[in-house]
Amino acid sequence: MPGYDVHEYDVLVVGAGGAGLRAAIEASAAGVRVGVVTKSLLGKAHTVMAEGGMAAAMGNVDDRDNWRVHFADTMRGGQYLNNWRMAELHAREAPERVRELEAWGAIFDRTPDGRILQRNFGGHRYPRLAHVGDRTGLEMIRTLQDHGIHQGMQVHMETTLLCLLLSGGRCVGGFGYDRERGRYHLFLAKAVVLATGGIGRAFQITSNSWEYTGDGQTLAYLAGAEMRDMEFVQFHPTGMIWPPSVRGILVTEGVRGEGGVLKNNQGKRFMFDDVPENYRSSTADNPEEGWRYTQGDKNARRPPELLTRDHVARCIRREVRAGRGSPHGGVFLDIAWIKEKLPNSVEHIKKKLPSMYHQFKQLADLDITREPMEIGPTTHYFMGGIQVDGDTQMTSVPGLFAAGECAAGLHGANRLGGNSLSDLLVFGQRAGEHAAAFARRQQPETPGAVQDQIHAAIARAEAPFERGPGGESPYAIQHALQEIMQNWVGIVRTEEELQRALEAIADLRHRAERVGVGGNREYNPGWHTALDLESLLTVSELVARAGLERRESRGGHFRDDFPGKDDNWAKVNLVLRRGPDGRPESRSVPVPPLPEELRQAIEENK
Ligand code: FUM
Repeated sequence: MPGYDVHEYDVLVVGAGGAGLRAAIEASAAGVRVGVVTKSLLGKAHTVMAEGGMAAAMGNVDDRDNWRVHFADTMRGGQYLNNWRMAELHAREAPERVRELEAWGAIFDRTPDGRILQRNFGGHRYPRLAHVGDRTGLEMIRTLQDHGIHQGMQVHMETTLLCLLLSGGRCVGGFGYDRERGRYHLFLAKAVVLATGGIGRAFQITSNSWEYTGDGQTLAYLAGAEMRDMEFVQFHPTGMIWPPSVRGILVTEGVRGEGGVLKNNQGKRFMFDDVPENYRSSTADNPEEGWRYTQGDKNARRPPELLTRDHVARCIRREVRAGRGSPHGGVFLDIAWIKEKLPNSVEHIKKKLPSMYHQFKQLADLDITREPMEIGPTTHYFMGGIQVDGDTQMTSVPGLFAAGECAAGLHGANRLGGNSLSDLLVFGQRAGEHAAAFARRQQPETPGAVQDQIHAAIARAEAPFERGPGGESPYAIQHALQEIMQNWVGIVRTEEELQRALEAIADLRHRAERVGVGGNREYNPGWHTALDLESLLTVSELVARAGLERRESRGGHFRDDFPGKDDNWAKVNLVLRRGPDGRPESRSVPVPPLPEELRQAIEENK
């Protein structure tokens, strides 16, 4: 049995994106020993890909904005399946978290009178996204990293956890390996915060980076934690589709926020054709009004391109299926047209959307200041995940906390753009604070108490080497899974497809038990892929299972065989956990009633 290094912390944070770093900063500030484990290099977390901004009701551009409107928008966007306490805390605390980030050195775009500039995004009533051009996530990570690194946290880069460790019913750390040398590491901790992000790599077309294989969700699920809302996957309407090598890369909603419009191959702005009933009064019915809205006219209504993402993505799919798509199977997103309105449009676009300009120029040889982009939906965000307590972020496993995308609740059935970066800050801070407080109340665990779990983890990790290169290929299994999820668990689902997906996933699980790799543990991508399969298969099965159970369409879950909303499902969250036989068990949990103040906030802002 190979040996392992031992590290002891009070709080172990898993993930170094926005939520993980913010949690680590808060826990360090509370005076406890903090370790951070990150699958990638520090500074390369997927958060850096977040573009358009972070939503916070600061009211800098429109002083009618406040936390009550932000709360109501978030709940409406989530179709009222949100954890209302999280939506409340998020709306109340986001402005303070943004100002704090500024105090730590983030350089936001400014209003003419020097305040943090805020831009429009889909589903937000007022301009609300504090931003740094279209590189907001990058600035956020840079700032958190610069600030956090001086707080004394220990960072273990390129390290992946294989399992969480339990003792006496609570989480007491994790066991993993470093990708570079393949050494095993035991992390003993009095509290663990999972902040590992999403699951996009289970799909073929995604804006997510390679680390997003559902690790945190799977670690928590296998440790016995409850999961919720697993049926809700967000397909961002605008990803690159051409050339094929860059398919899925995000094209920020900021393009539409700055006046970009969607057109089919007949030059028609098809979004005007289909405006949902509950958004009709707040949506412009002519291009001129829509344009004025994007330019900050407080009396104008939003253009239909800024309706919620689930809706826009389905409209694009409809156009493509009806033969009105672009040459490579998407539609056109046109920001170049604003030259009709702004004499300095070229400089304006380059200033407001610098990454988009370079991304298309370098990857597609296309100048977005002159030509429309070809775009299509891309798997972007996972609303489902680990169930947490709204105030503390503790999961149903004592000592185990979760924050950011791997935790569920804030966004309900559909997330509004920009609510993710502020989610990371608000709940990263809360997770760090409460994990540190929990850790202070615990006694340290010894390696002896978790020996059996360590041996089992090593045996599982070594098995692919024992089968050798003649075993099943991990890449082939991953590829097959991505195809299944894309085709049968995608934007539009049916019972038959979901059933087929579940059978195919079960088959892939059998194949994964025979997976083999050659070489040794030193930087071995085949081995890493083999070890990622457990997470990819687990989250895929849970998404398909929950999707099959919810026999209606709502938010990020659309069933072609049940295309309408069903009142029986309107106030129910699906909660899944691992049953005693190792198979998922689900139960429907009624959404708890709203306190009067929050009910009124929603009424006022209908
Ligand atoms: O379109 C975007 O810039 C994405 C933002 C988000 O998902 O919050």
